[in-house]
Amino acid sequence: MGLFEKFEKTATLYNGLEAAGQNPFSVVMEEVLGPTRAKIRGRETVLAGTHNYLGQTFEKTAIAAGQKALEVEGTGTTGSRFANGTFSGHKKLERDLANYLGVDYCVVFSTGYVANLGAIAGLIDPSEDVVLIDADCHACIYDGCQLAGAQTIRFRHNDPESLDKRLARVPPETKGKLVCIEGMYSMYGDVAPVKEFVDVAHRHGAHLLVDEAHSFGIYGEKGRGVAEDVMDQIDFYSGTFSKSLASIGGFVASRHPEVEYLRFSSRPYKFTASPSPSTIATANAALDNIASDPSIRAKLWENANRLHAAFTQLGLRLAAAPAPVISVLFDTREEAFAAWNFLLQHGVYVNMAIPPGTPGKESLLRLAVSSAHTPEDIDALVSAYSALAEAFPAARRSAGH
Ligand SMILES: Cc1ncc(COP(=O)(O)O)c(C=O)c1O
Repeated sequence: MGLFEKFEKTATLYNGLEAAGQNPFSVVMEEVLGPTRAKIRGRETVLAGTHNYLGQTFEKTAIAAGQKALEVEGTGTTGSRFANGTFSGHKKLERDLANYLGVDYCVVFSTGYVANLGAIAGLIDPSEDVVLIDADCHACIYDGCQLAGAQTIRFRHNDPESLDKRLARVPPETKGKLVCIEGMYSMYGDVAPVKEFVDVAHRHGAHLLVDEAHSFGIYGEKGRGVAEDVMDQIDFYSGTFSKSLASIGGFVASRHPEVEYLRFSSRPYKFTASPSPSTIATANAALDNIASDPSIRAKLWENANRLHAAFTQLGLRLAAAPAPVISVLFDTREEAFAAWNFLLQHGVYVNMAIPPGTPGKESLLRLAVSSAHTPEDIDALVSAYSALAEAFPAARRSAGH
């Protein structure tokens, strides 16, 4: 019994949601119909919670590249990057990512989660270095600090002054200082003041890692991310293939040649299998598409701006300025659960997030916009959210917020 006692609370919550047919955490895509549509609970649904920001999951060139890799190189690498799991496709993708970002070095990992874990744990020696992280950083950055066994100092979200104060208090004998932030934060869709963070970090002799999992391919004139204008000053740039590149895998890019040593020092690089040839090939084809066709990014922003303007008009409690993530805030998880189900019944799938996974005490419904959303999809989203605003006064700013 002892081992399972901890699950009692979870079981009550989980079983309650299942019984009510209301579990946002066990949704099955019964039939995938395209980049923005799937059958869920027997009904055709608009997907607006899939992080398929640049709509690449059904691109012909990506599918063809994946099929060719499958046929030519087989289904899997059956080994880690460090051992037998590095194929020419992994090396090519590393070069192409580095070129796209305008840096010299890039290391591909098995997922974005593993990339951050691998970067932090590979760079940090807990006996002489510290890590400073934005309080709202993703779980994998927290987990990377844990794996490193590092002394970890949190600073206030998106607050370079708070970082400045924390860095000033780091003991002078500390050797390395690594600051971790994200580009766009996925819960609210808010964006980091990266330039200010660069200035503060470097003034204190610290290195800066920016995780652009949700902003790669989307922000900046060339799509390099929120850090695009200061790429030459960023020390480490991490990203994932699971969102804008519509595949699975992750990477750490850098202007520092020392990042290559992660291939030896990083356990998450060495001790897990590498992405299969087909997932690498599809990610590379998606990268080629988004690098050569800025209209994909422009379409995403057109859709994001249109939805944000419509939701503002409806008076919804939006968490941030227009972004590829548009979140509506609720005070209680019960309201958010009900609202999530309401949207699903109206043919719209979004993500639900509840504390402690959210930055504040609120629960939220998170809509991820895609360049592949058609005008009909956008109309369906606006119509479902209009009904939501009517039915849920708590979702509106006028409800005392
Ligand atoms: C900020 C951030 N970093 C890293 C990851 C992990 O990416 P992956 O899905 O490739 O493991 C995520 C995933 O949601 C994320 O939001």
